[in-house]
Amino acid sequence: MDKQTTHIPQADIDRQLAYCLEVKEVYAARGVKPLAFVDTYGCQQNEADSERIRGYLRTMGFDFTQSEKEADIIVINTCAVREHAEQRVLGNVGALVHTKRAKPDQLICLCGCMMQQQHVTEKIKQSFRHVDLVFGPHVLWKFPQFIHGLLTRRGRIFQIPDEAGSIAEGIPVVRQGDVKAWVSIMYGCNNFCSYCIVPYVRGRERSRDPELILSEVRELVEQGYKDITLLGQNVNSYGKDLDCPMDFSDLLEQVNAIPGDFLIRFMTSHPKDATQKLFETMAKCEKVAPVLHLPFQAGNDRVLKVMNRRHTREQYLDKVRALKALIPDIVLTSDVIVGFPGETTEEFEDTLKVLEEVRYDALFTFIYSPRVGTPAASMDDPMSREEKLANFNRLVALQDQISEEKHREYIGKTVRCLVDGLSDDPRWALTARTPGNRLVRLDGPSDAAGRFVDVKITDANKWSLYGELI
Ligand code: SAH
Ligand code: SF4
Ligand code: F3S
Repeated sequence: MDKQTTHIPQADIDRQLAYCLEVKEVYAARGVKPLAFVDTYGCQQNEADSERIRGYLRTMGFDFTQSEKEADIIVINTCAVREHAEQRVLGNVGALVHTKRAKPDQLICLCGCMMQQQHVTEKIKQSFRHVDLVFGPHVLWKFPQFIHGLLTRRGRIFQIPDEAGSIAEGIPVVRQGDVKAWVSIMYGCNNFCSYCIVPYVRGRERSRDPELILSEVRELVEQGYKDITLLGQNVNSYGKDLDCPMDFSDLLEQVNAIPGDFLIRFMTSHPKDATQKLFETMAKCEKVAPVLHLPFQAGNDRVLKVMNRRHTREQYLDKVRALKALIPDIVLTSDVIVGFPGETTEEFEDTLKVLEEVRYDALFTFIYSPRVGTPAASMDDPMSREEKLANFNRLVALQDQISEEKHREYIGKTVRCLVDGLSDDPRWALTARTPGNRLVRLDGPSDAAGRFVDVKITDANKWSLYGELI
Protein backbone atom coordinates (compact mmCIF):
# COMPACT_ATOMS: atom_id res chain seq x y z
CA MET A 1 0.00 0.00 0.00
CA ASP A 2 0.96 3.65 -0.38
CA LYS A 3 3.69 4.61 2.07
CA GLN A 4 1.83 7.80 3.04
CA THR A 5 -1.25 5.96 4.25
CA THR A 6 -1.24 5.26 7.96
CA HIS A 7 -3.18 2.16 8.92
CA ILE A 8 -4.36 2.54 12.48
CA PRO A 9 -3.33 -0.65 14.32
CA GLN A 10 -6.17 -2.76 15.72
CA ALA A 11 -4.64 -2.38 19.21
CA ASP A 12 -5.29 1.38 18.98
CA ILE A 13 -8.94 0.83 18.05
CA ASP A 14 -9.22 -1.67 20.94
CA ARG A 15 -7.90 1.05 23.24
CA GLN A 16 -10.67 3.35 21.96
CA LEU A 17 -13.25 0.65 22.70
CA ALA A 18 -11.84 0.46 26.23
CA TYR A 19 -12.35 4.23 26.56
CA CYS A 20 -15.97 3.64 25.50
CA LEU A 21 -16.48 1.34 28.45
CA GLU A 22 -14.89 3.84 30.83
CA VAL A 23 -17.23 6.56 29.51
CA LYS A 24 -20.15 4.17 30.01
CA GLU A 25 -19.18 3.78 33.66
CA VAL A 26 -19.02 7.55 34.19
CA TYR A 27 -22.62 7.92 33.03
CA ALA A 28 -23.73 4.80 34.92
CA ALA A 29 -22.32 6.34 38.11
CA ARG A 30 -24.48 9.40 37.46
CA GLY A 31 -27.49 7.07 37.32
CA VAL A 32 -28.68 8.17 33.89
CA LYS A 33 -29.15 6.45 30.57
CA PRO A 34 -27.28 8.95 28.40
CA LEU A 35 -28.70 10.32 25.16
CA ALA A 36 -26.86 11.58 22.10
CA PHE A 37 -27.93 13.84 19.25
CA VAL A 38 -25.91 13.41 16.05
CA ASP A 39 -26.51 15.88 13.23
CA THR A 40 -24.87 15.42 9.82
CA TYR A 41 -24.24 17.91 7.02
CA GLY A 42 -22.70 17.29 3.62
CA CYS A 43 -22.16 14.20 1.53
CA GLN A 44 -22.59 10.46 2.05
CA GLN A 45 -19.00 10.27 3.23
CA ASN A 46 -20.05 12.33 6.22
CA GLU A 47 -23.15 10.16 6.70
CA ALA A 48 -20.85 7.14 6.79
CA ASP A 49 -18.60 8.87 9.34
CA SER A 50 -21.62 9.69 11.51
CA GLU A 51 -22.56 6.02 11.48
CA ARG A 52 -19.18 5.35 13.10
CA ILE A 53 -19.66 8.11 15.65
CA ARG A 54 -23.03 6.53 16.50
CA GLY A 55 -21.31 3.15 16.70
CA TYR A 56 -18.86 4.47 19.29
CA LEU A 57 -21.68 6.26 21.17
CA ARG A 58 -23.74 3.06 21.30
CA THR A 59 -20.68 1.25 22.71
CA MET A 60 -20.52 4.01 25.35
CA GLY A 61 -24.10 3.07 26.32
CA PHE A 62 -25.88 5.93 24.56
CA ASP A 63 -29.36 5.94 23.07
CA PHE A 64 -30.19 8.48 20.40
CA THR A 65 -32.54 11.44 20.44
CA GLN A 66 -33.70 14.04 17.93
CA SER A 67 -33.84 16.70 20.64
CA GLU A 68 -30.82 18.89 21.32
CA LYS A 69 -32.39 19.87 24.66
CA GLU A 70 -32.37 16.40 26.18
CA ALA A 71 -29.04 15.23 24.74
CA ASP A 72 -26.06 14.60 27.02
CA ILE A 73 -23.77 14.71 24.00
CA ILE A 74 -24.36 16.69 20.82
CA VAL A 75 -22.20 15.88 17.79
CA ILE A 76 -22.40 18.07 14.71
CA ASN A 77 -20.61 16.56 11.71
CA THR A 78 -19.98 19.47 9.38
CA CYS A 79 -19.39 20.11 5.67
CA ALA A 80 -17.14 22.76 4.15
CA VAL A 81 -18.04 22.44 0.49
CA ARG A 82 -20.06 25.66 0.21
CA GLU A 83 -20.54 28.75 2.37
CA HIS A 84 -24.25 28.07 2.82
CA ALA A 85 -23.54 24.77 4.61
CA GLU A 86 -21.00 26.49 6.87
CA GLN A 87 -23.38 29.32 7.75
CA ARG A 88 -26.10 26.86 8.72
CA VAL A 89 -23.69 25.03 11.02
CA LEU A 90 -22.50 28.24 12.68
CA GLY A 91 -26.11 29.42 13.17
CA ASN A 92 -27.14 26.12 14.75
CA VAL A 93 -24.05 25.89 16.94
CA GLY A 94 -24.63 29.47 18.12
CA ALA A 95 -28.15 28.56 19.22
CA LEU A 96 -26.81 25.67 21.36
CA VAL A 97 -25.58 28.19 23.91
CA HIS A 98 -29.13 28.14 25.32
CA THR A 99 -29.46 24.34 25.52
CA LYS A 100 -26.10 24.17 27.26
CA ARG A 101 -27.14 26.84 29.76
CA ALA A 102 -30.20 24.74 30.67
CA LYS A 103 -28.08 21.54 30.86
CA PRO A 104 -24.54 22.50 31.93
CA ASP A 105 -23.20 18.92 31.77
CA GLN A 106 -24.03 18.70 28.10
CA LEU A 107 -21.01 18.11 25.82
CA ILE A 108 -21.04 19.92 22.49
CA CYS A 109 -18.78 18.39 19.86
CA LEU A 110 -18.02 19.56 16.32
CA CYS A 111 -16.29 17.42 13.72
CA GLY A 112 -16.15 16.92 9.96
CA CYS A 113 -14.63 18.79 7.06
CA MET A 114 -15.33 22.33 8.24
CA MET A 115 -13.27 21.64 11.36
CA GLN A 116 -10.18 20.77 9.34
CA GLN A 117 -9.83 24.49 8.47
CA GLN A 118 -7.76 26.60 10.82
CA HIS A 119 -9.72 29.82 10.35
CA VAL A 120 -12.89 27.97 11.41
CA THR A 121 -11.44 26.38 14.52
CA GLU A 122 -9.90 29.73 15.56
CA LYS A 123 -13.32 31.31 15.32
CA ILE A 124 -14.85 28.53 17.42
CA LYS A 125 -12.11 28.85 20.02
CA GLN A 126 -12.72 32.59 20.37
CA SER A 127 -16.42 33.06 19.75
CA PHE A 128 -18.18 29.76 20.54
CA ARG A 129 -16.96 29.09 24.05
CA HIS A 130 -19.80 26.65 24.78
CA VAL A 131 -18.25 24.15 22.32
CA ASP A 132 -16.29 21.52 24.25
CA LEU A 133 -14.68 19.40 21.55
CA VAL A 134 -13.51 20.03 18.01
CA PHE A 135 -11.84 17.31 15.95
CA GLY A 136 -10.97 16.87 12.28
CA PRO A 137 -11.92 13.92 10.04
CA HIS A 138 -8.46 12.31 10.27
CA VAL A 139 -8.82 11.63 14.01
CA LEU A 140 -12.45 10.55 14.12
CA TRP A 141 -11.23 7.16 15.31
CA LYS A 142 -10.08 8.80 18.58
CA PHE A 143 -13.56 10.11 19.45
CA PRO A 144 -13.94 7.92 22.61
CA GLN A 145 -10.60 9.15 23.94
CA PHE A 146 -11.70 12.77 23.46
CA ILE A 147 -15.03 12.20 25.27
CA HIS A 148 -13.19 10.42 28.05
CA GLY A 149 -10.83 13.41 28.28
CA LEU A 150 -13.74 15.83 28.59
CA LEU A 151 -15.37 13.77 31.33
CA THR A 152 -12.23 13.24 33.40
CA ARG A 153 -10.31 16.51 32.98
CA ARG A 154 -11.22 20.17 32.82
CA GLY A 155 -10.99 22.22 29.65
CA ARG A 156 -11.90 22.09 26.00
CA ILE A 157 -10.27 19.78 23.45
CA PHE A 158 -9.19 20.88 19.96
CA GLN A 159 -7.66 18.08 17.87
CA ILE A 160 -7.08 19.03 14.25
CA PRO A 161 -3.82 17.38 13.21
CA ASP A 162 -2.76 18.20 9.68
CA GLU A 163 -2.09 14.58 8.71
CA ALA A 164 -2.15 13.23 5.18
CA GLY A 165 -4.82 10.82 6.36
CA SER A 166 -5.23 7.39 7.74
CA ILE A 167 -7.42 4.34 7.40
CA ALA A 168 -9.03 3.01 10.54
CA GLU A 169 -10.82 -0.34 10.38
CA GLY A 170 -12.89 -2.07 13.03
CA ILE A 171 -14.82 0.93 14.36
CA PRO A 172 -18.35 -0.11 15.41
CA VAL A 173 -21.17 1.16 13.17
CA VAL A 174 -24.81 2.04 13.82
CA ARG A 175 -26.44 2.33 10.40
CA GLN A 176 -29.42 4.50 9.54
CA GLY A 177 -32.11 2.14 8.28
CA ASP A 178 -31.95 -1.50 7.25
CA VAL A 179 -32.48 -1.41 3.48
CA LYS A 180 -29.71 0.88 2.20
CA ALA A 181 -26.11 0.93 3.36
CA TRP A 182 -23.03 3.01 2.58
CA VAL A 183 -19.67 1.29 2.23
CA SER A 184 -16.62 3.54 1.98
CA ILE A 185 -14.10 2.05 -0.42
CA MET A 186 -11.63 4.91 -0.33
CA TYR A 187 -11.02 8.25 1.34
CA GLY A 188 -9.67 11.61 0.21
CA CYS A 189 -9.13 13.14 -3.20
CA ASN A 190 -6.09 13.95 -5.36
CA ASN A 191 -7.81 16.02 -8.01
CA PHE A 192 -7.65 19.56 -6.67
CA CYS A 193 -10.40 20.99 -8.83
CA SER A 194 -9.64 24.68 -8.40
CA TYR A 195 -12.92 25.56 -6.62
CA CYS A 196 -13.01 22.60 -4.24
CA ILE A 197 -12.05 22.35 -0.56
CA VAL A 198 -12.38 18.55 -0.28
CA PRO A 199 -8.72 17.61 -1.01
CA TYR A 200 -7.55 20.09 1.66
CA VAL A 201 -9.83 18.77 4.37
CA ARG A 202 -9.98 15.07 3.48
CA GLY A 203 -6.35 14.42 2.53
CA ARG A 204 -4.94 12.29 -0.27
CA GLU A 205 -6.63 9.34 -1.93
CA ARG A 206 -6.28 6.08 -0.06
CA SER A 207 -8.04 2.82 -0.83
CA ARG A 208 -9.38 0.32 1.67
CA ASP A 209 -8.22 -3.27 1.45
CA PRO A 210 -10.53 -5.02 -1.07
CA GLU A 211 -10.95 -8.06 1.21
CA LEU A 212 -12.31 -5.85 3.98
CA ILE A 213 -14.72 -4.15 1.57
CA LEU A 214 -15.95 -7.51 0.26
CA SER A 215 -16.45 -8.95 3.73
CA GLU A 216 -18.37 -5.81 4.80
CA VAL A 217 -20.69 -6.14 1.79
CA ARG A 218 -21.13 -9.88 2.40
CA GLU A 219 -22.13 -9.18 5.98
CA LEU A 220 -24.59 -6.45 4.92
CA VAL A 221 -26.22 -8.77 2.39
CA GLU A 222 -26.50 -11.49 5.06
CA GLN A 223 -28.17 -8.93 7.35
CA GLY A 224 -30.74 -8.25 4.62
CA TYR A 225 -29.51 -4.96 3.14
CA LYS A 226 -30.66 -4.64 -0.47
CA ASP A 227 -29.11 -1.43 -1.72
CA ILE A 228 -25.38 -0.99 -1.24
CA THR A 229 -23.57 2.18 -2.28
CA LEU A 230 -19.79 2.09 -2.63
CA LEU A 231 -18.45 5.49 -1.62
CA GLY A 232 -15.45 7.61 -2.47
CA GLN A 233 -14.80 11.14 -3.75
CA ASN A 234 -13.56 9.60 -6.98
CA VAL A 235 -14.25 5.86 -6.98
CA ASN A 236 -12.66 5.49 -10.42
CA SER A 237 -9.26 5.99 -8.79
CA TYR A 238 -9.82 3.03 -6.49
CA GLY A 239 -6.83 0.73 -6.16
CA LYS A 240 -4.19 3.04 -7.61
CA ASP A 241 -2.41 3.08 -4.25
CA LEU A 242 -2.80 -0.65 -3.51
CA ASP A 243 -0.01 -3.20 -3.84
CA CYS A 244 -2.30 -5.73 -5.50
CA PRO A 245 -3.15 -4.88 -9.11
CA MET A 246 -6.83 -4.00 -8.94
CA ASP A 247 -9.00 -1.17 -10.19
CA PHE A 248 -12.57 -0.08 -9.49
CA SER A 249 -14.03 -2.24 -12.27
CA ASP A 250 -12.34 -5.32 -10.77
CA LEU A 251 -13.77 -4.43 -7.37
CA LEU A 252 -17.27 -3.99 -8.85
CA GLU A 253 -17.06 -7.43 -10.43
CA GLN A 254 -16.05 -8.99 -7.15
CA VAL A 255 -18.86 -7.25 -5.26
CA ASN A 256 -21.26 -8.38 -8.00
CA ALA A 257 -20.14 -11.96 -7.45
CA ILE A 258 -21.34 -11.94 -3.83
CA PRO A 259 -24.45 -14.18 -3.71
CA GLY A 260 -27.80 -12.54 -2.91
CA ASP A 261 -30.54 -10.34 -4.33
CA PHE A 262 -29.22 -6.81 -3.92
CA LEU A 263 -28.30 -3.69 -5.89
CA ILE A 264 -24.88 -2.10 -6.14
CA ARG A 265 -24.50 1.65 -6.59
CA PHE A 266 -21.41 3.81 -6.39
CA MET A 267 -20.43 7.45 -6.21
CA THR A 268 -18.77 9.68 -7.21
CA SER A 269 -17.16 9.10 -10.60
CA HIS A 270 -14.79 11.65 -12.06
CA PRO A 271 -15.30 11.77 -15.85
CA LYS A 272 -11.57 11.84 -16.57
CA ASP A 273 -11.18 8.41 -14.91
CA ALA A 274 -14.44 6.81 -16.10
CA THR A 275 -13.22 4.19 -18.57
CA GLN A 276 -14.72 1.96 -21.24
CA LYS A 277 -13.79 -0.94 -18.95
CA LEU A 278 -16.00 0.56 -16.23
CA PHE A 279 -18.95 0.91 -18.62
CA GLU A 280 -18.52 -2.67 -19.85
CA THR A 281 -18.34 -3.90 -16.27
CA MET A 282 -21.53 -2.01 -15.40
CA ALA A 283 -23.25 -3.53 -18.43
CA LYS A 284 -22.30 -7.11 -17.61
CA CYS A 285 -22.76 -7.06 -13.81
CA GLU A 286 -26.46 -7.71 -13.23
CA LYS A 287 -26.46 -6.33 -9.68
CA VAL A 288 -24.87 -3.02 -10.63
CA ALA A 289 -27.73 -0.52 -10.93
CA PRO A 290 -28.11 1.15 -14.35
CA VAL A 291 -27.30 4.61 -13.04
CA LEU A 292 -24.23 6.81 -13.13
CA HIS A 293 -23.59 10.07 -11.32
CA LEU A 294 -21.04 11.74 -13.57
CA PRO A 295 -20.42 15.37 -12.59
CA PHE A 296 -19.41 17.66 -15.45
CA GLN A 297 -19.50 21.00 -13.55
CA ALA A 298 -19.38 23.22 -16.66
CA GLY A 299 -19.95 22.88 -20.41
CA ASN A 300 -17.29 25.29 -21.63
CA ASP A 301 -13.74 24.08 -22.30
CA ARG A 302 -12.04 27.26 -21.09
CA VAL A 303 -13.97 27.10 -17.82
CA LEU A 304 -13.28 23.36 -17.43
CA LYS A 305 -9.57 24.05 -17.85
CA VAL A 306 -9.50 26.79 -15.21
CA MET A 307 -11.53 24.49 -12.97
CA ASN A 308 -8.68 21.96 -13.41
CA ARG A 309 -11.15 19.24 -14.37
CA ARG A 310 -8.75 17.73 -16.91
CA HIS A 311 -11.39 16.82 -19.48
CA THR A 312 -13.06 18.71 -22.31
CA ARG A 313 -16.74 18.86 -23.10
CA GLU A 314 -16.30 16.55 -26.12
CA GLN A 315 -14.33 13.98 -24.10
CA TYR A 316 -17.13 14.01 -21.56
CA LEU A 317 -19.85 13.67 -24.17
CA ASP A 318 -17.92 10.85 -25.90
CA LYS A 319 -17.96 8.91 -22.64
CA VAL A 320 -21.68 9.49 -22.21
CA ARG A 321 -22.30 8.26 -25.78
CA ALA A 322 -20.17 5.16 -25.20
CA LEU A 323 -22.07 4.38 -22.00
CA LYS A 324 -25.49 4.91 -23.62
CA ALA A 325 -24.48 2.59 -26.46
CA LEU A 326 -23.80 -0.17 -23.93
CA ILE A 327 -26.68 0.55 -21.52
CA PRO A 328 -29.45 2.36 -23.43
CA ASP A 329 -31.69 2.84 -20.37
CA ILE A 330 -28.88 4.22 -18.21
CA VAL A 331 -30.04 6.88 -15.74
CA LEU A 332 -27.59 9.77 -15.68
CA THR A 333 -27.20 12.44 -13.02
CA SER A 334 -24.61 15.16 -12.59
CA ASP A 335 -23.34 18.15 -10.61
CA VAL A 336 -23.08 21.62 -12.13
CA ILE A 337 -21.57 24.85 -10.83
CA VAL A 338 -22.94 28.17 -12.09
CA GLY A 339 -20.96 31.38 -11.76
CA PHE A 340 -17.42 30.03 -11.52
CA PRO A 341 -15.04 33.07 -11.44
CA GLY A 342 -14.82 34.57 -14.93
CA GLU A 343 -17.51 32.36 -16.49
CA THR A 344 -19.47 34.55 -18.92
CA THR A 345 -23.13 34.07 -19.72
CA GLU A 346 -22.12 32.85 -23.17
CA GLU A 347 -19.85 30.22 -21.60
CA PHE A 348 -22.62 29.28 -19.20
CA GLU A 349 -24.85 28.59 -22.19
CA ASP A 350 -22.47 25.74 -23.14
CA THR A 351 -23.59 24.14 -19.88
CA LEU A 352 -27.20 24.31 -21.07
CA LYS A 353 -26.14 22.62 -24.32
CA VAL A 354 -24.70 19.68 -22.38
CA LEU A 355 -28.02 19.30 -20.55
CA GLU A 356 -29.87 19.24 -23.85
CA GLU A 357 -27.54 16.67 -25.34
CA VAL A 358 -27.22 14.32 -22.37
CA ARG A 359 -30.74 14.74 -20.95
CA TYR A 360 -29.96 13.95 -17.32
CA ASP A 361 -32.67 12.40 -15.20
CA ALA A 362 -31.68 14.69 -12.34
CA LEU A 363 -29.10 17.37 -11.71
CA PHE A 364 -27.51 18.83 -8.58
CA THR A 365 -27.02 22.53 -9.24
CA PHE A 366 -24.81 24.89 -7.23
CA ILE A 367 -23.88 28.54 -7.36
CA TYR A 368 -20.11 28.91 -7.04
CA SER A 369 -19.02 29.59 -3.47
CA PRO A 370 -15.43 30.79 -2.80
CA ARG A 371 -13.52 28.51 -0.41
CA VAL A 372 -10.58 29.83 1.60
CA GLY A 373 -7.25 28.48 0.33
CA THR A 374 -8.47 27.19 -3.05
CA PRO A 375 -7.01 28.69 -6.26
CA ALA A 376 -10.42 29.84 -7.54
CA ALA A 377 -10.99 31.95 -4.42
CA SER A 378 -8.34 34.41 -5.59
CA MET A 379 -9.50 34.58 -9.22
CA ASP A 380 -11.28 37.63 -10.62
CA ASP A 381 -15.02 37.20 -10.28
CA PRO A 382 -16.66 40.13 -12.05
CA MET A 383 -20.18 38.74 -12.59
CA SER A 384 -22.85 40.11 -10.26
CA ARG A 385 -24.80 37.88 -7.89
CA GLU A 386 -28.02 38.80 -9.76
CA GLU A 387 -26.59 37.70 -13.10
CA LYS A 388 -25.40 34.41 -11.59
CA LEU A 389 -28.81 33.87 -10.09
CA ALA A 390 -30.50 34.56 -13.43
CA ASN A 391 -28.26 31.94 -15.10
CA PHE A 392 -28.88 29.52 -12.25
CA ASN A 393 -32.64 29.91 -12.70
CA ARG A 394 -32.36 29.23 -16.43
CA LEU A 395 -30.41 26.06 -15.66
CA VAL A 396 -32.95 24.85 -13.11
CA ALA A 397 -35.89 25.60 -15.43
CA LEU A 398 -34.33 23.61 -18.28
CA GLN A 399 -33.49 20.67 -16.01
CA ASP A 400 -36.99 20.68 -14.48
CA GLN A 401 -38.45 20.36 -17.95
CA ILE A 402 -36.06 17.52 -18.89
CA SER A 403 -36.63 15.69 -15.58
CA GLU A 404 -40.39 15.86 -16.06
CA GLU A 405 -40.14 14.60 -19.66
CA LYS A 406 -37.81 11.76 -18.63
CA HIS A 407 -40.07 10.82 -15.74
CA ARG A 408 -43.17 10.83 -17.95
CA GLU A 409 -41.49 8.26 -20.23
CA TYR A 410 -42.04 5.74 -17.41
CA ILE A 411 -45.85 6.08 -17.49
CA GLY A 412 -47.49 2.78 -18.46
CA LYS A 413 -44.33 0.76 -17.83
CA THR A 414 -43.92 -1.89 -15.15
CA VAL A 415 -40.68 -1.46 -13.20
CA ARG A 416 -39.09 -3.68 -10.58
CA CYS A 417 -38.59 -1.34 -7.62
CA LEU A 418 -37.09 -1.65 -4.17
CA VAL A 419 -39.44 -0.42 -1.45
CA ASP A 420 -37.27 1.72 0.76
CA GLY A 421 -39.73 2.80 3.42
CA LEU A 422 -42.84 4.62 4.53
CA SER A 423 -43.75 7.73 2.57
CA ASP A 424 -43.46 11.16 4.17
CA ASP A 425 -46.35 12.27 1.93
CA PRO A 426 -49.65 11.22 3.60
CA ARG A 427 -51.30 10.61 0.23
CA TRP A 428 -49.07 7.58 -0.36
CA ALA A 429 -48.15 4.74 1.97
CA LEU A 430 -44.72 3.83 0.60
CA THR A 431 -41.71 5.11 -1.27
CA ALA A 432 -39.69 2.92 -3.57
CA ARG A 433 -36.76 3.35 -5.93
CA THR A 434 -36.38 2.25 -9.51
CA PRO A 435 -33.08 0.50 -10.27
CA GLY A 436 -31.94 3.90 -11.60
CA ASN A 437 -32.78 5.40 -8.17
CA ARG A 438 -35.80 7.45 -9.27
CA LEU A 439 -38.29 8.01 -6.45
CA VAL A 440 -41.65 6.21 -6.74
CA ARG A 441 -44.66 6.87 -4.49
CA LEU A 442 -47.23 4.11 -4.15
CA ASP A 443 -49.71 2.41 -1.85
CA GLY A 444 -49.00 -0.96 -0.27
CA PRO A 445 -48.53 -2.80 3.02
CA SER A 446 -46.29 -1.11 5.56
CA ASP A 447 -44.17 -4.26 5.93
CA ALA A 448 -43.08 -4.09 2.29
CA ALA A 449 -39.90 -2.12 3.08
CA GLY A 450 -36.82 -3.94 1.84
CA ARG A 451 -38.74 -5.96 -0.77
CA PHE A 452 -38.36 -5.85 -4.53
CA VAL A 453 -41.82 -5.38 -6.08
CA ASP A 454 -43.24 -4.82 -9.56
CA VAL A 455 -44.80 -1.39 -9.87
CA LYS A 456 -46.91 -0.11 -12.73
CA ILE A 457 -46.11 3.59 -13.20
CA THR A 458 -49.32 5.61 -13.57
CA ASP A 459 -48.17 9.22 -13.25
CA ALA A 460 -45.02 11.35 -12.97
CA ASN A 461 -43.80 14.90 -12.43
CA LYS A 462 -40.36 16.53 -12.25
CA TRP A 463 -39.70 15.18 -8.76
CA SER A 464 -41.02 11.64 -8.78
CA LEU A 465 -42.99 8.77 -10.27
CA TYR A 466 -46.33 7.45 -8.97
CA GLY A 467 -47.44 3.88 -9.31
CA GLU A 468 -49.48 0.85 -8.29
CA LEU A 469 -48.24 -2.38 -6.81
CA ILE A 470 -48.81 -5.32 -9.13
N1 SAH B 1 -16.07 14.24 -5.47
C1 SAH B 1 -17.26 14.58 -6.05
C2 SAH B 1 -18.12 15.57 -5.30
C3 SAH B 1 -17.51 16.66 -4.52
S1 SAH B 1 -18.47 17.88 -3.79
C4 SAH B 1 -16.96 15.02 -7.46
O1 SAH B 1 -15.86 15.24 -7.82
O2 SAH B 1 -17.89 15.15 -8.22
C5 SAH B 1 -20.02 17.81 -4.61
C6 SAH B 1 -20.26 18.91 -5.57
O3 SAH B 1 -20.24 20.17 -4.95
C7 SAH B 1 -19.23 19.04 -6.68
O4 SAH B 1 -19.43 18.11 -7.70
C8 SAH B 1 -19.46 20.45 -7.15
O5 SAH B 1 -20.46 20.52 -8.14
C9 SAH B 1 -19.96 21.15 -5.90
N2 SAH B 1 -18.95 22.07 -5.38
C10 SAH B 1 -17.74 21.77 -4.90
N3 SAH B 1 -17.09 22.89 -4.53
C11 SAH B 1 -17.91 23.93 -4.77
C12 SAH B 1 -17.83 25.34 -4.61
N4 SAH B 1 -16.73 25.90 -4.13
N5 SAH B 1 -18.90 26.09 -4.97
C13 SAH B 1 -20.00 25.53 -5.46
N6 SAH B 1 -20.15 24.21 -5.64
C14 SAH B 1 -19.12 23.41 -5.31
FE1 SF4 C 1 -13.59 18.18 -5.25
FE2 SF4 C 1 -12.79 17.69 -7.70
FE3 SF4 C 1 -12.06 16.06 -5.73
FE4 SF4 C 1 -14.57 16.10 -6.52
S1 SF4 C 1 -12.81 15.47 -7.75
S2 SF4 C 1 -13.84 16.13 -4.44
S3 SF4 C 1 -14.90 18.22 -7.07
S4 SF4 C 1 -11.43 18.19 -5.98
FE1 F3S D 1 -18.75 18.31 2.47
FE2 F3S D 1 -16.65 17.05 3.33
FE3 F3S D 1 -18.43 15.78 1.91
S1 F3S D 1 -16.68 19.10 2.53
S2 F3S D 1 -19.27 17.36 0.59
S3 F3S D 1 -18.77 16.64 3.88
S4 F3S D 1 -16.24 15.44 1.91
